[in-house]
Amino acid sequence: MRAFPGGTGATKAAGNYAGSLLAGRVAQEAGFHSVLWLDGPTHRFVEESGLMNVFFLVNGVAVTPPLCGTILPGVTRDSVITLIREMGIEVTERAVAVDELVAASKSKELSEAFAVGTAATVAPIQCIRYGDVDIVAPVQDESSVASRLLSRMEAIRTGAAADTHGWLSRI
Ligand SMILES: Cc1ncc(COP(=O)(O)O)c(C=O)c1O
Repeated sequence: MRAFPGGTGATKAAGNYAGSLLAGRVAQEAGFHSVLWLDGPTHRFVEESGLMNVFFLVNGVAVTPPLCGTILPGVTRDSVITLIREMGIEVTERAVAVDELVAASKSKELSEAFAVGTAATVAPIQCIRYGDVDIVAPVQDESSVASRLLSRMEAIRTGAAADTHGWLSRI
């Protein structure tokens, strides 16, 4: 758990980050890049991945946890929702149970998992260890949603594609 309802999870408060450092180190010592945070009250629902918001492609639909006060309303999350919809893919903001991901991974309905944030933009997730179960997403190629998002955001950022949403500011 990173943040509890009623707390400061939706803000960039220093305390949120201090409290997450030890878990991050434990994950890295176990060979992982980051921690997938679950909700405080039940520990059943996915919230964020490290310092990034998180998306899953389940049955062809992109799902991401809703902004309920415990996760950061990231600007990249917002842009990614818009860009995925522009690709003609449905996006649903809803509670995502970790048990659902375990089942979707086993049934091969989980086709992608990725984290998004300003620093890394879009970071594919290959494996999430939950207890003694590995939730595995297929290795992503250039046709994956994550890879297409990364190219699209890079093109908008560098001016190679038109900024139709007014995301860029001239400074
Ligand atoms: C906890 C947390 N979640 C998500 C994000 C991603 O937010 P953004 O897309 O605005 O960079 C950040 C970025 O710092 C963060 O600290």
